[in-house]
Amino acid sequence: MSQKPVCVKDFEEHARRVLPKSVYDYYRSGADDQITLADNQAAFSRWRLYPRVLREVSHVDISTTVLGQKVSMPVCVAATAMQRMAHPDGEIATVKACQSAGIGMMLSSWATTSIDEVAKAAPEAVRWLQLYIYKDRELTKSLVLKAEREGYKGIFITVDTPYLGKRRNDIRNRFKLPSHLRMANFEMPDLAFSSKESYGEDSGLAVYVAKLIDPSLRWEDIAWVKSLTRLPVVVKGILRADDAIEAVTYGVDGILVSNHGARQLDCVSSTIDVLPEIVEAVGGRVEVYLDGGVRKGTDILKALALGAKAVFLGRPILWGLAYEGEQGVSEVLELLREEFTLAMALCGCRSVNEIDKSIVRKSASSASRI
Ligand SMILES: Cc1cc2nc3c(=O)[nH]c(=O)nc-3n(C[C@H](O)[C@H](O)[C@H](O)COP(=O)(O)O)c2cc1C
Repeated sequence: MSQKPVCVKDFEEHARRVLPKSVYDYYRSGADDQITLADNQAAFSRWRLYPRVLREVSHVDISTTVLGQKVSMPVCVAATAMQRMAHPDGEIATVKACQSAGIGMMLSSWATTSIDEVAKAAPEAVRWLQLYIYKDRELTKSLVLKAEREGYKGIFITVDTPYLGKRRNDIRNRFKLPSHLRMANFEMPDLAFSSKESYGEDSGLAVYVAKLIDPSLRWEDIAWVKSLTRLPVVVKGILRADDAIEAVTYGVDGILVSNHGARQLDCVSSTIDVLPEIVEAVGGRVEVYLDGGVRKGTDILKALALGAKAVFLGRPILWGLAYEGEQGVSEVLELLREEFTLAMALCGCRSVNEIDKSIVRKSASSASRI
């Protein structure tokens, strides 16, 4: 790229040009007509900021905690599968950038680098494991125990994927991993999503999920995961207040409001629009986080104003990887750090504790459309 990227969109544009089409399509796509994919970002712009002035903002402290761990800003990395397709260093590059930035990284069960390799590459990083619950419960248990052994600080159980959402481009491209890569947490070729396996004319990943991931998951299974580990457990993929209350009843330590980056069920609400009712229902009993469509400093500020303790980034990290590996991820994180700090200062907030719901309102024009 001749010009330095000045926003996350610039990083994405670069990735679109350099990545193989099937890889870019896999990373970028949402489900079906991608209505929610567009709305995840558009919804942020329907909320307007109400800044306070003359607040002595010469120092702005953006640090916070997530699940009791100190982080330098309320921005963490969400699980995205198979990062070595974006850059040869993949998850190693991401975790090192997170360690340098002092923020947390959620490693996908479907990473192309194993739980222990990622731990070894960045022993000081705050790391969490994203857990898919396999039909094979012993296998699932072994992932949890390995994460605990390797110093991970929490388990994020993905609860919105009993089946894989229908991503049309992945079907057209018959998406599967390039032959030099595999899901590194698994030995057997069928579990490792190896290109040696045959997936017919479908998205290879949809076939993989249908064969191996457990669609019979129930709330009791959250209790089962909790019984395996002393680590905090977060449910990832909550979109309703009543489910959030159920999660609290089952003893979770946090709730990640997420629609899986609009990749599962199309036409669900954007995450920022359901955040307020979930925060209200939870009533401060556990931390609530948000992901989906966060691309700018003002998005982060709005999510915190509506009650999120932190936000998670999916695709922007992949665009950073495609740009320049660890350096590219660091640049994306630095860009968002600058934007968020500026947004806080211009809103008159000197620390994240001063961000409250008085600084954000649904814009009058969008409210009248509802
Ligand atoms: C390419 C890609 C792969 C993903 N892989 C996983 C995964 O393995 N496990 C998971 O729970 N969520 C996965 N997600 C969802 C993300 O964790 C996160 O919810 C979503 O990307 C946030 O939206 P954003 O991309 O708009 O930031 C993936 C998302 C993308 C884009």
